[in-house]
Amino acid sequence: MAFNKRVKIKTILDESPVGKEVTLMGWVRTKRSNKNVSFIALNDGSTITNYQIVADPTIISEEVLKRCATGACLKVSGKVVESQGAGQSSELNASTIEVLGDADPEKYPLQPKKHSLEFLREIAHLRMRTNTFGAVFRVRHALAYAVHKYFNDKGFFYIHTPIITASDAEGAGETFKVTTLDLKNPPRNEEGGIDYKEDFFERETNLTVSGQLEGELAAMALSEIYTFGPTFRAENSNTARHLAEFWMIEPEMAFYDAEDNQDLAEDFLKYVIQYALDNCAEDLKFLDQRLGDEEKSKPQDQRSELGLIDKLKFVAENDFVRLTYTEAIDILRNSNPNKKKKFTYLIDAWGADLQSEHERYLVEKHFKKPVILTDYPKEIKSFYMRQNEDGKTVAAMDILFPGIGEIVGGSQREERLDVLTKRMEEMNIPQDEMWWYLDTRRFGATPHAGFGLGFERMVLFVTGMSNIRDVIAFPRTPGNAEF
Ligand code: 4AD
Ligand code: MG
Repeated sequence: MAFNKRVKIKTILDESPVGKEVTLMGWVRTKRSNKNVSFIALNDGSTITNYQIVADPTIISEEVLKRCATGACLKVSGKVVESQGAGQSSELNASTIEVLGDADPEKYPLQPKKHSLEFLREIAHLRMRTNTFGAVFRVRHALAYAVHKYFNDKGFFYIHTPIITASDAEGAGETFKVTTLDLKNPPRNEEGGIDYKEDFFERETNLTVSGQLEGELAAMALSEIYTFGPTFRAENSNTARHLAEFWMIEPEMAFYDAEDNQDLAEDFLKYVIQYALDNCAEDLKFLDQRLGDEEKSKPQDQRSELGLIDKLKFVAENDFVRLTYTEAIDILRNSNPNKKKKFTYLIDAWGADLQSEHERYLVEKHFKKPVILTDYPKEIKSFYMRQNEDGKTVAAMDILFPGIGEIVGGSQREERLDVLTKRMEEMNIPQDEMWWYLDTRRFGATPHAGFGLGFERMVLFVTGMSNIRDVIAFPRTPGNAEF
């Protein structure tokens, strides 16, 4: 028999093959014993539900039973029988138990009790063995699959854009440098600066902050494409919404204007959420309860009105609000927290950049719905966004979600060469280095648009977790790159 002739616990629970001999493998969550019998709760990650192993001490030796401690890895063979206890329909009567890997109960950090999320972050190498993180990562997988399925079914092509680039697409200057130069003794140019001509790529390079610019090149040939890859930003913002390494999905479409872009984004977000509702019921039920318990410890007025599953259904089934930046500024200026000076950044004039406190006021207090904010002042947005007729605003959109704030940023792109190069000049963006990007405006240009979804922010929303560090396996944040 090959080693892996095992049945997954999910399969056993789905099929309940009473009377069959099977082999299970997994990790011990808990063990309860009396002198007649031991009950072992086994989990193999295929589902949140543990499977009950019944071990008779006249069949399984005392020495082996002792080693079946929390955290140990077991191979268990036996017969599936109807369960005596409530809660599950079948259980396994063990005929043999092989301990594949011991876990010393004195040293194993995960005890069968509630640990804080902060503590679990310090043992990120083990935290996936908890119910919460098992659920989060199964849901994360389902969401990633739904992203690919959505675009594939619509005829979009998945493009792999480079991770090492020489451009800073967003122009925010928050890049991680990539170099093989000797940092202690770098080659110098005549001005005394570092001579990147001596570097591996013979130029200065960094980790990508967005695949968009390359995505645009692909859309100018394949019409509808998307990227889904790691993205790096060295912004020193230690918030519950920012990672230094995150995953972004960036569709880019030829022949789309701003409204087409908004329609696609709304449809896409709803699809992905509905996919999780349809395919992750068990994990979402657990996460819903977890969030409910957490909410109970908050003061009444800070609790959310909807539970997790109801909130997801609400977003999947209702139209998003669409309004312009100018309309939003009017609402914010006249809002209570602005008048009472409760906002950290008060809104007094058109042109102000919106902070997350303003975004959250709009979605959580004012509209109580996701909001698509459009047509921002060009001064606070990137060079590539298409300028509107008013000369002041660009065809940008940000999508704001309750509890999250900005989840999507996008725009119609500036396809007019003269307007684009003028804007690049104004913003000091070197055109000679971007010759390839400008070429798509020189040869066969067309209206096009796209957006970027921060994948972890979507996972945050769907799982109801509150810190972005808890929805990516091994988070990278300022000061943290342990695992
Ligand atoms: O709004 P951003 O900066 O837009 C772009 O990068 C465009 N190039 C997208 C496009 O039009 N193709 O980022 C897009 C999204 C944000 O809305 C947010 O959800 C997420 O990426 N994001 C982050 N997520 C986690 N940690 C960070 N540091 C993030 N920065 C942005
Ligand atoms: Mg943005």
